[in-house]
Amino acid sequence: MAKKYNIAVIPGDGIGQEITSAAIEVLEAASSRNNIEIFTKELTAGGAAIDKFGLPLPQETIGGAKDSDAVLLGAVGGPKWDTVEPELRPERAILGLRSGLGLYANIRPVVIHEGLEAASPLKNPGKIDFIIVRELTGGIYFGKNGVYQSGDRLPDGTVKGKIAYDTEVYSEGEINRILKIAFDLAMKRRKKLTLVDKANVLVSSRMWRNLARQMSFDYPDVELECLYVDNAAMQLISRPSSFDVIVTSNLFGDILSDEAGQIVGSIGMLPSASIGEEGKPGLFEPIHGSAPDIAGQNRANPLGTILSAAMMMRIMFGEEEVAYSIENAVRKTLASGLRTGDITFVGDSNNVKLVGTAEITKAVIENL
Ligand SMILES: NC(=O)c1ccc[n+]([C@@H]2O[C@H](COP(=O)([O-])OP(=O)(O)OC[C@H]3O[C@@H](n4cnc5c(N)ncnc54)[C@H](O)[C@@H]3O)[C@@H](O)[C@H]2O)c1
Repeated sequence: MAKKYNIAVIPGDGIGQEITSAAIEVLEAASSRNNIEIFTKELTAGGAAIDKFGLPLPQETIGGAKDSDAVLLGAVGGPKWDTVEPELRPERAILGLRSGLGLYANIRPVVIHEGLEAASPLKNPGKIDFIIVRELTGGIYFGKNGVYQSGDRLPDGTVKGKIAYDTEVYSEGEINRILKIAFDLAMKRRKKLTLVDKANVLVSSRMWRNLARQMSFDYPDVELECLYVDNAAMQLISRPSSFDVIVTSNLFGDILSDEAGQIVGSIGMLPSASIGEEGKPGLFEPIHGSAPDIAGQNRANPLGTILSAAMMMRIMFGEEEVAYSIENAVRKTLASGLRTGDITFVGDSNNVKLVGTAEITKAVIENL
């Protein structure tokens, strides 16, 4: 009997519709070859939802996402909604989905695809293939913050001039659950885990380091490396191919994952996954935005979204064969020289052919 998965599809705005349709086409084709049925339900979020319902994340969308097995998101936002008040901006939909679905781990693979090495700003990037696991719902973005006004009385004196503060707060439970995801991922890969922290200065970082060392006893095959974040930022540039899985806090992960994204260049190529409790739907999306400048022109690179669908099959459903077949089809398509506009400058110019969203999607399906 065929296995069945219910996917909530949230195209969002700009190129969102084109890239999610492309990814679903590929996903359906790859799944049917493995006796898997994909059912999709389209939901509205972002600017499209503001236009239709007056708010970026309607109840129907968050409810539909919760009822699904996994969520595929395009991107939200665009100049049309730039003047909307902050609480109602399209980007609030992403935060609402993350908190509504309890997605505490963001997983971003950083891979240089064969033929796209020239997209890296590094001179000799080598073979880069690592994953960043970023804690997503704790840390300084969610800790107590505020401003003390000049003249406020604190226990240790009166404030002279205003004081603004943010606090980095992590519980053992929050750290352990993300460490476990990272250790488990490392076990399935090259068995090396790098913890990035600032344990020489921050108390919370020392807790991360102690817990990581404790957990490493349960994973004797995984080599645990601990790096201070400033050093890690340098090492990502100087020895990127030495990393396998990197795990870190919300703030450090936010910064390092953008740095890592740049190392492999092309924004249209990079997928991501956000996951939470086991058995609950995860959210899969490309890392780029809604690219309003090229929306509706058959110019969007759908490969980041297609690769996000592959991540969904592997991480959510354990469908390694389907995931691999999609990733391999993307590799073959790039090797055949097909490129969308954002990556045309990359590769051997004799072999490279500029195509649109529809044509590159068709080629991926043919290469499955
Ligand atoms: N997760 C999200 O939904 C998300 C993330 C980032 C930005 N945004 C929003 O997207 C809107 C546009 O933001 P931006 O212009 O700063 O970033 P962007 O990523 O949308 O675009 C930056 C540049 O990259 C190009 N580009 C992006 N994705 C591409 C693709 N798949 N194929 C080909 N070219 C691609 C665009 O054409 C543009 O020139 C803003 O409203 C922003 O807030 C949303």
